[in-house]
Amino acid sequence: MLMYRDIFEEEMNRDTVFRDASKLMPEYVPQVLVHRDEEFRQLTRFFKPVLENRSSQRVLVTGSVGVGKTALTRRFGAELEKAASSRGMILTYLHINCRKDRTIYSVIAKILQHFNPRWPYHGLGPEKLLNDVVTYLNSRDAYLTVTLDELDFFVQQNGPNLIYSLTRTAEESGGPNRISLIAIARDKSFLRSLDAATQSTFMHNVISLDRYSASQLRDILASRLVEAFKPGVVGEDTIELIADIASRWGDARFALELLWRAGMAADAEGVKEVTPEHVRKAKAEVYPEIKRETLRDLQLHEKLVLLAVARKLAISKRAYAFTGDVEKTYRVVCEEYHEKARKHTQFWEYLQRLGALGLVDIKPSGLGQRGQSLKISIQEVPAEWLEKEIEKLIKGRAT
Ligand SMILES: Nc1ncnc2c1ncn2[C@@H]1O[C@H](COP(=O)(O)OP(=O)(O)OP(=O)(O)O)[C@@H](O)[C@H]1O
Ligand SMILES: [Mg+2]
Repeated sequence: MLMYRDIFEEEMNRDTVFRDASKLMPEYVPQVLVHRDEEFRQLTRFFKPVLENRSSQRVLVTGSVGVGKTALTRRFGAELEKAASSRGMILTYLHINCRKDRTIYSVIAKILQHFNPRWPYHGLGPEKLLNDVVTYLNSRDAYLTVTLDELDFFVQQNGPNLIYSLTRTAEESGGPNRISLIAIARDKSFLRSLDAATQSTFMHNVISLDRYSASQLRDILASRLVEAFKPGVVGEDTIELIADIASRWGDARFALELLWRAGMAADAEGVKEVTPEHVRKAKAEVYPEIKRETLRDLQLHEKLVLLAVARKLAISKRAYAFTGDVEKTYRVVCEEYHEKARKHTQFWEYLQRLGALGLVDIKPSGLGQRGQSLKISIQEVPAEWLEKEIEKLIKGRAT
């Protein structure tokens, strides 16, 4: 019988095509962003006055899924900090994902805690907390640039107050405005919910990232290949096939995920080369319409509600499920996972959030009153696939 130590060692020594698979994860920010020099330059031009005149700036970065908005701004933020410091200016760059930090409060807490993890903030309103930040910056003659990533989701759910607070608090403090903002959204449409003045400041400073072409994706993949794989395990045609598939969406995240999954498929077979057939296998199990991070970052009960929708649809084989039935399935799912089912109003909120994230589609059923009965569908991916993905995520959670 194999001892656990043997199994451990066997797995550790198992041959793999990867040198470092973490270099393919969406969180990893590469040193070089291929084909984004011009956009980096544009950002730099917008921020020149911040470094030169110590003024503040507001920029909007737009583009569809996986075009490098997050990677570009993170890389820019790192350079901005360095450039400021070499000019004797204290400037902090903070990147906040507003899909994860989903309330005004938690975004502001993120800012405070960056400066001091023990900053007492409980029970205080957002305006007061922001005032504290401004006072802190003033007292140190320091500056802050905050990127609000995936801000469109946030504004859809919480309205425009966060941006108002961030812009106004600094302006009303009397001193120089020390807080600059970079907003990231899929497109400009969310600006409509802001007032005309705020809208126009962003409107004048928009950097829009185009989808990548097949040849650009090929270059992106090639540059990542060296970091992530052992030399010579991924052939030219494998890369070409991935780039061609992903170019339909122009999405670098999808391309990198295909590459990663293809590598996993090769490892599973114990072979030393990642072939086009591995890519085709990978393609069958990834859907670019749904981001892995979006699923992963859902709260547990949001996952359970989504699991209930997916199950209900998979079992019934129908196009739509009624909210009442989904809620019943949700209760069963909760029992299965030994979780206490949340109350109806809460369930309702989870469902709305899943709708806002585009994971489910919600429309009135025509039955019932006052919107109490809705029809839920999943349009982008097979319900069974979604069911499996969420089950994997829930089971893998740290308890
Ligand atoms: N030009 C590039 N060069 C190298 N890697 C890139 C480039 N653009 C994107 N990537 C990589 O592709 C993945 C997706 O990029 P990123 O997360 O920045 O996209 P995004 O526009 O923020 O997408 P979303 O709207 O879904 O948040 C990341 O792993 C990123 O490192
Ligand atoms: Mg992003």
